[in-house]
Amino acid sequence: MAPRRISIIGTGYVGLVTGICFAELGNNVFFVDISEQRIEDIKNGKMPIYEKGLEELFRKNRKKISATTDIKEAAESTDISFICVGTPSGKNGEINLEYIRKAAEDIGNAIKGKQDHMVIVKSTVVPGTTENVVAKTIKETAGNRFRIGMNPEFLREGNAVHDFLNPDRVVIGTKDEKVWKELEALYEPVNAPILRTDIKTAEMIKYASNALLATKISFINELGNLCKKAGIDTYRVAEGMGLDKRIGRHFLNSGIGYGGSCFPKDVLALIRFSQDSGTDLEIIKKVHEVNEKQPLKILDVLREKTDPSGKTIAVLGLAFKPDTDDVRESPAIKIVKELMKYTKNIRAYDPKGMENFRKIFPELIYCKSAREAVSEADACLLLTEWEEFKNLTEYDFSGMKSKIIIEGRKILSRERVKDFEGVCW
Ligand SMILES: NC(=O)c1ccc[n+]([C@@H]2O[C@H](COP(=O)([O-])OP(=O)(O)OC[C@H]3O[C@@H](n4cnc5c(N)ncnc54)[C@H](O)[C@@H]3O)[C@@H](O)[C@H]2O)c1
Repeated sequence: MAPRRISIIGTGYVGLVTGICFAELGNNVFFVDISEQRIEDIKNGKMPIYEKGLEELFRKNRKKISATTDIKEAAESTDISFICVGTPSGKNGEINLEYIRKAAEDIGNAIKGKQDHMVIVKSTVVPGTTENVVAKTIKETAGNRFRIGMNPEFLREGNAVHDFLNPDRVVIGTKDEKVWKELEALYEPVNAPILRTDIKTAEMIKYASNALLATKISFINELGNLCKKAGIDTYRVAEGMGLDKRIGRHFLNSGIGYGGSCFPKDVLALIRFSQDSGTDLEIIKKVHEVNEKQPLKILDVLREKTDPSGKTIAVLGLAFKPDTDDVRESPAIKIVKELMKYTKNIRAYDPKGMENFRKIFPELIYCKSAREAVSEADACLLLTEWEEFKNLTEYDFSGMKSKIIIEGRKILSRERVKDFEGVCW
């Protein structure tokens, strides 16, 4: 395939991974962001985010990568623009399309007078957005001469490079034969099934997939709360269930609930979309409610063991999942906020997430290692399943004042650490 010239609008987790991976596949990539800092970083060879393996791939492909805050400059020298800006939750859970609208306006102005520029929405947007908001906005300034498509992204943070280059499937929503042919060729090297749909279906596939994964999590968490009360090992139950191919073992790890920048907001956006469409998604609403309560279950377990008032509590793991520095909607936020009602002495450690967590909670004591965080602590809460926590031993916890260790994710091993307890297993 001849190299394509691609603009990536929005250099967050999805934009950077998409752009750098497209460069790895042989294409030339132009990054665009409204954040001058981000663009400066990229120009200076610095990665604005941490994502496993991304920096190495960036360095390897730097010659194929440019960056600018001037979208016109990028649009003029490329043929395809991928919109990768954020789509956060609005006040009432509805999707906030502010960044999408602005990006569409900017693209419209940038491609005015150009023929056949392809605009592909990669951001997660509720059905109808690509056609009724993005295409409509671009048309107002650029007329009818552009082509439109929707290509949802399914990567998981922490494993994003691998997921992008080895996806289970690629979904391309478009009515436009040329868009279909171009994207099919662009994704050809990743060797995955490519599903062609209409635009609205592509938008819905993303929400339906995330909603089902969130459902599995809330399901096993609720079951885990019961199993713990009934003295049953939830993880053995999940193992037994997971061997059934119809069920599968994935997403049946009980714990403190899902977080991150996707599941919580996508579940809420889907609920709001259904209400706006005049129907109600009863199951998905419960999935959200269960998840709202789940992080604080760890404090119930803690309170059964000790009154946390004035005590020193170690919190290991702040990122919403391992191998990322992303703390957006991390269960750790809810837990720390509640814990602060009891004590000011919270000693925190995370291999990558401390800088971002500090912006939300500057008052915590941030430590250089897990061992340092637990020293002199009355209790320890483990909240993210980082690999390095899996290797913790009795020796690492030996500085604790009292040995109360509660896991919010299944991390520790009985061979290495004697006494600890799971939140819902
Ligand atoms: N993070 C994930 O794991 C993931 C996975 C799949 C899909 N998604 C979806 O992808 C989208 C992006 O998510 P993210 O986590 O990468 O977001 P992010 O917040 O990390 O990054 C968004 C970037 O867009 C930039 N931006 C905003 N408006 C802009 C504009 N008009 N022009 C240029 N740049 C602009 C911001 O400055 C920021 O750098 C969302 O819709 C999200 O739901 C995310």
